Amino acid sequence: MREGTPLFESPRAAAAFAKALPTLAIGKTLDYRQVAESTNDLAARAAREDAPHGLVVLAEEQTAGRGRRGRTWLAPPGKALLFSVLVRANGMPAERIGWAALASGCAAVEAVERLARIPVRLKWPNDIVVVSQAPRAKAEIQKSENACPWRKLGGVLCEGVLPKGAGGASRAIVGIGLNVNQTPEELPDPPKASATSLLAETGHPADRRALLAGLLERLEARLDALSGDAAFEALRSDVGARLEAWWRGARLAAISAEGRHEGRFAGLDEFGRLRLENAEGKVVALADAEVVGVA
Ligand code: BTN
Repeated sequence: MREGTPLFESPRAAAAFAKALPTLAIGKTLDYRQVAESTNDLAARAAREDAPHGLVVLAEEQTAGRGRRGRTWLAPPGKALLFSVLVRANGMPAERIGWAALASGCAAVEAVERLARIPVRLKWPNDIVVVSQAPRAKAEIQKSENACPWRKLGGVLCEGVLPKGAGGASRAIVGIGLNVNQTPEELPDPPKASATSLLAETGHPADRRALLAGLLERLEARLDALSGDAAFEALRSDVGARLEAWWRGARLAAISAEGRHEGRFAGLDEFGRLRLENAEGKVVALADAEVVGVA
């Protein structure tokens, strides 16, 4: 395995990159590290020490990278984008917190589309995937699960940081892992969620610095939308349209802490929960789950 080229040759280069970003807050304070256990943990620690909104902790390598649902997140040094953003939820209506992960996933999809020009999809709640094939109209969900009809390019791990005392501002950490320049041999390959990278999809390496800049710009736009009215409606409609384009009329299987759910995709509710309608017309709204099959 060849080690990738570091994003920045020196702390000074990282600071110059941060200064030149077109954002107001996101990435303007950049903590760039060669190695970290988990950038989410570092950002959470910084949040408790009153670090500013928009702080980005980025590492070339993680020794204990975490994914959703207790999984590990693996990437060889210098090949992926591994970073966490501190978000202070000032002015955001509390019921929109469920949208933070969706907003971040949507931002990542937009940045990848702009830079790499490949069709990527947002997979509720916060995965960035490439779809292998059109779902077969009458195929059983079980079959599509075995075939794993998508390849995962990246994911978002959104975690809350408890306020210090009563009345303290609530903060969240948005951690993003994006597979960029890993060769197919360097990708983890668990049996059901097969991974991919931009290199594996396009056949050529991508400019990680340009991708990072684009991602931070889209993150600011989409996260700011959580505190506005018109921008929030635009976010809801864009996320809804992306999911509809893939799942309209589809039957989904999802796993949550309560077990397995199956039903027809019935959009998202105002909290960003996935609505599934069963054969009797009963709708369940899932806040935290993983879609494992589409048919
Ligand atoms: C998922 O399970 O899909 C979410 C993966 C999130 C991984 C990123 S990498 C940077 C940040 N630090 C972590 O420990 N996890 C997130």
